[in-house]
Amino acid sequence: MAIQGEGSERRQRGDRAGEPTVHDLVQEDFSLVTQHMVMSEHLNPNHHIFGGQLLAWLDTDVYLHCTNRLRYKSMVTVSMNNVYFKAPGYLGDIIQIYARIKDVRRSSVTAEGKAVAYDPEKQTSREIIACEVTYVAVGANGRPVRIFER
Ligand SMILES: CC(C)(COP(=O)(O)OP(=O)(O)OC[C@H]1O[C@@H](n2cnc3c(N)ncnc32)[C@H](O)[C@@H]1OP(=O)(O)O)[C@@H](O)C(=O)NCCC(=O)NCCS
Repeated sequence: MAIQGEGSERRQRGDRAGEPTVHDLVQEDFSLVTQHMVMSEHLNPNHHIFGGQLLAWLDTDVYLHCTNRLRYKSMVTVSMNNVYFKAPGYLGDIIQIYARIKDVRRSSVTAEGKAVAYDPEKQTSREIIACEVTYVAVGANGRPVRIFER
């Protein structure tokens, strides 16, 4: 895969030993990206985590995973799909956000994200939401740029 930054500079990816190709990236398993603690301001009137808060964490944290793995940071969210709220989260839960890249196309990348409630005392994890997020690489004018060439 070659990644072309804004302007004419082109950084070749996958050509140098040890650098992942697109194939390598989409084969990767989930990585832990970030952790959050559920505070009172994150709760809905049922005393569960507000779904919009989970989506906001996923949007940001899955983006961080993609931007780090692809080494390109000017991307916007174009869609969040297959959102599945599997179980509630509660006050004091430690929420771990995991992500993996699913597909890389010309200007877009789709990644799977999930949040689990982790209990460090019991060493257990409970999955509470899963979704897919697609980001599009954009230039200074906000229009897509075809940076992910294979
Ligand atoms: C993202 C945006 C630039 C795409 O513009 P567009 O005119 O649809 O662009 P194109 O039709 O050229 O498509 C560009 C890429 O986006 C993908 N795309 C467009 N709409 C999509 C959708 N609903 N779901 C998934 N991918 C989509 C296309 O498949 C294409 O991918 P590829 O280049 O890898 O093949 C535009 O929709 C936009 O500015 N949206 C607002 C983004 C935003 O403000 N997000 C919230 C804050 S980050």
